[in-house]
Amino acid sequence: MNSPSNPETGRSRRLFLAVVVLAAVATLAVTALLINIFERKQEAKNPFYRVVDLNNTIDDPATWGKDFPMQYDLYLRTTDMERTKYGGSEGVPHSPTQADPRSVVARSKLQEDPRLKAIWAGYSFSADYRERRGHAYMLEDQTFTERQKFAPPAMCVNCHASMVTTYLKLGDGDIMKGFNVISDSHMTYPQIRQQVKHAVACIDCHDPKTMQLRVTRPAFIEGIRALKASQGIPNYDVNKMATRQEMRSFVCGQCHVTYYFQPPNKRLTFPWTKGLKVEDIIAVEDEQKIKEWDHPDSGAGLIKARHPEFEMWNQGVHARSGVACADCHMPYMRQGGLKISDHQVNSPLLKINRSCQTCHHFPEEELKARAEEIQDKFFNLRNTALDALVDLINDIKAEKAKGATDTQLAQAREYQRKGEFMIDFVMSENSMGFHAPQEATRILGDAINFCRLGQLSLHGGPPPSHNPPNIETVASGTGLVGGDRK
Ligand code: HEC
Ligand code: HEC
Ligand code: HEC
Ligand code: HEC
Ligand code: HEC
Repeated sequence: MNSPSNPETGRSRRLFLAVVVLAAVATLAVTALLINIFERKQEAKNPFYRVVDLNNTIDDPATWGKDFPMQYDLYLRTTDMERTKYGGSEGVPHSPTQADPRSVVARSKLQEDPRLKAIWAGYSFSADYRERRGHAYMLEDQTFTERQKFAPPAMCVNCHASMVTTYLKLGDGDIMKGFNVISDSHMTYPQIRQQVKHAVACIDCHDPKTMQLRVTRPAFIEGIRALKASQGIPNYDVNKMATRQEMRSFVCGQCHVTYYFQPPNKRLTFPWTKGLKVEDIIAVEDEQKIKEWDHPDSGAGLIKARHPEFEMWNQGVHARSGVACADCHMPYMRQGGLKISDHQVNSPLLKINRSCQTCHHFPEEELKARAEEIQDKFFNLRNTALDALVDLINDIKAEKAKGATDTQLAQAREYQRKGEFMIDFVMSENSMGFHAPQEATRILGDAINFCRLGQLSLHGGPPPSHNPPNIETVASGTGLVGGDRK
């Protein structure tokens, strides 16, 4: 139809040419974009442009940082201190001395609440107990705490230093053997301290070849195996059998757990053979006849709970929904085309948009308010529980002064042992109730009742008409009889 002489045709040819050129440009642009996306995807898939060939003898995080500068940079920022209502961390000035050269330390929990001194009287924790702060400080805070006056075991270092190279060296290439050498040779803390250099480092959580997460702490490997065995799963090998999502909590559970030192060689033990609930743990320590100290006022033989974040998280709705420690404390972030994990491990309330809003589509202020409401309620009940415990201790002390015999005081002391451990368990847990709100308040409620029952037992009051549902577990292996009190 269109002849060349037709001016209409000339225009359509120019149009045609323009379209071709445009199409070519567009194709080029799309191709370039695709190549770019492809490259970024490749980067994301394999972000390991290795400058250094890492292996199990390299513990210095700076060396790992040459291969993974972004993670290293964030890791270094665990020195930052920022408060939230109940958590985060805050530095207070400290005049350096020869014994303790730190110029900044974390806030003292003992100064914030003098009742803590009363309940831990006679034990190292009544000398110095501070708030936690970032991973960068773990080794120095342990080295210089006043609790060092009580000559703590060498095994304290397990959770406060990078240990892989040290364990491998002491164990001739075998981590478990290296761990045992430290206990069996009765090494002291100053002796082991000379053999470690860094706070927890890349090598403690990552395989140097694949960068996959790995568990490197023998006490966790043994603890989780015992726990799985109690659930009917024999020979559990955490590094072979755990899912990737589980590992995102297990690497933290190597340290953020309660523990005791098993006599006679003070072997570090996670008391999980009966389960992770507070009553399960008390039952194990009762069975093993663990007593960390005698309370000077009441004469009760006591045990100490310590930071059971892993155990409490396990009792909460987030764990049940498959939400891992790393989901909230090391949320993903974008840097360039890369999705990386935030290695500045700290309070999730300092990064709610990445820590919570990925799952909860509420405004930031609303999420913060929900978390703080849980914490406020917990904090209130914790205060009631501490009062109840101090009342029980004072009551036992008074009866003792009046000449009550050990037999007459036995039951009240037993209640002190359990009530105190339960209150300590949820109080030394560092989320102020957030990780498992209902379980935390349940434990405080039962503990307050134990303190009340302890006081009743001193005064010949009526036998309790109701025992907490867990009294049978709590009382197993002790002088207490659950259920059928006469
Ligand atoms: C659903 C999110 C979530 C999960 C999962 C979670 N946490 Fe937390 N964690 C929090 C919140 C919120 C706080 C309270 C922070 C605050 O008060 O500033 C907290 C507090 C803490 C603290 C005290 C931190 C501070 O800055 O005061 C530690 C330590 C901790 N968690 C460890 C763990 C460990 C270990 C796990 C896994 C076993 C875990 N958390 C799982 C949300 C979470
Ligand atoms: C199973 C791992 C583990 C072991 C073993 C361990 N710690 Fe810790 N420690 C932690 C964790 C996790 C924190 C941070 C949470 C907290 O402060 O409650 C911490 C915090 C601390 C702090 C700072 C807060 C405070 O309590 O004043 C000091 C000091 C400390 N530990 C000293 C010691 C000493 C001394 C020992 C040996 C008796 C020891 N740790 C054994 C895991 C451990
Ligand atoms: C090798 C032991 C160890 C491992 C593994 C470990 N932590 Fe910690 N963590 C500690 C110690 C010790 C402290 C306290 C340091 C101090 O107060 O000096 C601490 C402190 C913290 C804090 C408080 C930070 C702040 O700014 O107040 C959080 C949150 C935390 N850890 C979460 C985690 C999470 C989540 C994981 C797993 C991804 C993890 N930790 C793995 C030992 C460990
Ligand atoms: C307390 C344990 C812990 C320590 C210490 C640690 N990481 Fe990680 N790292 C994690 C977790 C958890 C993930 C998420 C892994 C997953 O989801 O499979 C991760 C992921 C990574 C990844 C994969 C990409 C990403 O960001 O998700 C790289 C690379 C990495 N870490 C490098 C490092 C380097 C370098 C260091 C030391 C400077 C280091 N990590 C220290 C726990 C740790
Ligand atoms: C990976 C997803 C995920 C992340 C991240 C997450 N949550 Fe959740 N959260 C859940 C799920 C799932 C539930 C359970 C909802 C249900 O089954 O009703 C839940 C429940 C809750 C509840 C109700 C608690 C209860 O005991 O009933 C609160 C409050 C909450 N989340 C706050 C937070 C805060 C604050 C953060 C960040 C620190 C956070 N969540 C991070 C998935 C998540």
